[in-house]
Amino acid sequence: MVPLKRRKITKPQATDQHSKICKFNDVAVFIIERKMGASRKSFLMQLGRSKGFKMEEHYSPCVTHVVSENNTGDEVQTWITNQAVGNDDKSFSSSLHLLDISWLTDSIAAGCPLPVQDKHKLKTSPKPSADVSVITVKSYACQRRSPLKHHNIFLTEPLEILAENAEFMENEGRSIAFRRSASVLKALPRAVREMDDLKDLPCLGEHSLRVIKEILEDGASREVESTRLSEQFRAMKALTGVFGVGVKSADRWFREGLRSPADLLRTGQNLNRAQQADQNNKESSLLLLGVRYYDDLNRPVTKNEALAISDIVERAVNAVLPGAIITLAGGFRRGKEDGHDVDFLITHPEEGTEEGLMPKVVSWLEDQGLLLYQKTTRNSYLESKDGPARPPHNMDRFERCFSIFKLQQTREGSVLPAGAGGVMEQRAEECWRAVRVDLVVSPYSQFAYATLGWTGSKLFERELRRWAGQERGVSLSSHTIYDSKRQCYLPASSEEEIFAHLGLEYIAPGERNA
Ligand code: CTP
Ligand code: MN
Ligand code: MN
Repeated sequence: MVPLKRRKITKPQATDQHSKICKFNDVAVFIIERKMGASRKSFLMQLGRSKGFKMEEHYSPCVTHVVSENNTGDEVQTWITNQAVGNDDKSFSSSLHLLDISWLTDSIAAGCPLPVQDKHKLKTSPKPSADVSVITVKSYACQRRSPLKHHNIFLTEPLEILAENAEFMENEGRSIAFRRSASVLKALPRAVREMDDLKDLPCLGEHSLRVIKEILEDGASREVESTRLSEQFRAMKALTGVFGVGVKSADRWFREGLRSPADLLRTGQNLNRAQQADQNNKESSLLLLGVRYYDDLNRPVTKNEALAISDIVERAVNAVLPGAIITLAGGFRRGKEDGHDVDFLITHPEEGTEEGLMPKVVSWLEDQGLLLYQKTTRNSYLESKDGPARPPHNMDRFERCFSIFKLQQTREGSVLPAGAGGVMEQRAEECWRAVRVDLVVSPYSQFAYATLGWTGSKLFERELRRWAGQERGVSLSSHTIYDSKRQCYLPASSEEEIFAHLGLEYIAPGERNA
């Protein structure tokens, strides 16, 4: 909203620009209004034009001389950089003059643009690197592109150790803070070399900055290295690495003196009580399974193994529901070369036909002897009865199956091609590995949301929901967006549409590695 007064002044100026002849075409002056005020600026603009100076209305790359009053060189530089956000790089040309107002008044008095002298130049803080473009990073991870490979692993890996340790201590706030810091560094276009490179970056808390500083100066952070080696961290890592074991059990066992999965067997943690109550029995056999397949389940699943599992899942699903659509989600969809499991989303264009699909898929897989473990949960999402997915519930309510596949392999460890018969199959008979697989069934109408919700990364998802709630006042789940003000759901048939609903630029799966 331009004040009336200013509009009156700008009108005649605009005509002025056309009526007056620019006498000095290779000099284009732009006056920064900041700290000067609109009326003084327009007075100087008019005066300049009356002398035949080319006075620019807007800042643009054709400006050669930027003039300001009572601003430091750094302030002017920041102002200019901010004008260029969006057009990225070219914010700054080294030939651009940043000048004090005295250059303009002296030039007007002289009747022509004077050569720039040292006394006219605004001083900017020395920058070691030649190009001074300040990196701007948006504060929500879902506003940024986070590629799989980035330039700051030497900083993000240590910060993520601290995040993991905070999770083991059940300090979620602290863990998220470290993860957000790491994520900002993943989005940088180059490696951080000094603390100055971090100025103006969001989400970097005091503690993270302290860790980064130590790594930059000494090559390592004492806190991180001692955490890495600490008995508690190592034990928690080993114990939570057992399939089905969470932080709470691991912490209890640690306090009881247990350190490794082998300790669980040795002390018969729950295990010898297996014959007692039914519930106990279930927990114990799960634990036995987790310990038995410990090495397999902690060895990364390769892309090839994921593709082999895809083939199996496709065969299973098509056998029970022809025409179903199967999508590889999770880390592999983001372009990762390996993962801790393989995630699949299943739907069918004919809404409703997907209902009850999972038990059929599971029994097909079981008949083929392909499952070592499975736990299926029914779809509990009923929009009409239940109302919107409540935001504090991150867990979605799709029909899903948490499973361990038995994947046949050749002796060399490569995956056996589907249908490879005869001698090969016999030789490879006892050669298989356990692989964690997540299967999720979504109704077609929610498939875009399910895909977005199951592609990750976890931090990217968390940030999407935070953005939706805090910046847009809507609640996002893996089922839908609910707008509580307008009391309506926002349907979407593609991920692009969901980003648009949220007022976000589309970020491709490969750039969601926040
Ligand atoms: N997810 C979810 N609800 C769960 C578990 C997972 O919505 N109960 C989502 C996560 O938010 C993530 C995706 O499913 O977006 C995949 O989760 P996960 O397999 O744990 O992580 P990946 O990113 O696939 O990492 P990895 O490669 O190690 O498997
Ligand atoms: Mn995964
Ligand atoms: Mn998963």
